Amino acid sequence: MSSNGVLLEAAGIHKSYCTPGGTLHVLKGIDVHIGDGEIVSLVGPSGAGKSTLLHILGGLDVPEKGTVTLQGEEIYRLNDAQRARVRNSKIGFIFQFYHLLQEFTALENVLLPALIKSGERDSARLESKGKALLKQVGLEKRVTHKPYQLSGGEQQRVAIARALINQPAIIFCDEPTGNLDSRTGGEIIGLLKDLNVQNKQTFVIVTHDEQIARMSHRIIQMQDGRLK
Ligand SMILES: Nc1ncnc2c1ncn2[C@@H]1O[C@H](COP(=O)(O)OP(=O)(O)OP(=O)(O)O)[C@@H](O)[C@H]1O
Ligand SMILES: [Mg+2]
Repeated sequence: MSSNGVLLEAAGIHKSYCTPGGTLHVLKGIDVHIGDGEIVSLVGPSGAGKSTLLHILGGLDVPEKGTVTLQGEEIYRLNDAQRARVRNSKIGFIFQFYHLLQEFTALENVLLPALIKSGERDSARLESKGKALLKQVGLEKRVTHKPYQLSGGEQQRVAIARALINQPAIIFCDEPTGNLDSRTGGEIIGLLKDLNVQNKQTFVIVTHDEQIARMSHRIIQMQDGRLK
C-alpha cells in the first residue's frame, strides 16, 4: 500500500470492442482511484460500461490504453501468468450469479482459490480456515452442501467466503444483490459492511441497489463510457 492510502489507481482507461456493426468505444478515458478501506459504489445506466470497467480494474480484461496500479504494481505490465497470480492473491470477485462450481461442496468452493495459490500446502490448516469463513458468513451448518442444495442468499455467502480466503487487498462485486430479494440482499449488504468495518476490507461494487449506494463511502456515476 502506498503512503497516501491509495490502494488502486487507474488512469486513461480506454476499451473498444469490434462488432459486426463497427467498433464500439465502451470506455472513453477513465481515471479513478480507490482508497484503502473504502467502499465505493459504481452506478449508472445499463450499457454504461460498469462491468467492463470492473473487469479491467480487477485484472480480468485487458484495457486498450491506460494503466491500472494495485499496491504500486502496474498489473497490465505483467504477463498473463504473473497477472493471474496477482489476481489470485490480492483480488476477490463476487458476481450476481455466484459462479460457484456445482460439483463441489460449499467448503471446497471456498478453498479453491487457496489451493490454486502456491504455498498453501497445509490442508488441515486450510480446511479450518475455510470452515471459519463459512461460520463468519453464517453457513457453519452448510459446509458439505453443494450449490444446488443452497438458497441464492446462501450461495452468495459461499461466494463471499471464497472471495475472502486469500485475504485479498480489494474485492470487486458486480451486482451482488441483483439476484436476491430485498431482505436477503439486505443481509448480504450487512455482511459486506461488517467485513469493511471489522477488517477494513476494501470493496468496489457495481450496483443498481439503493441500499448498497447508501452504505458506501463514495458513489461513482458512470454514463456512456465516462465518469460523471
Ligand atoms: N465482449 C463484448 N463485445 C462487444 N460488445 C461488448 C462486449 N462486452 C460488452 N459490450 C458492450 O459494451 C457496453 C458496456 O457493457 P457493460 O457490460 O460494461 O455494461 P454495464 O454498465 O455493466 O451494463 P448493465 O448494467 O446492463 O450490466 C454494452 O453496450 C455492451 O453491449
Ligand atoms: Mg454489468
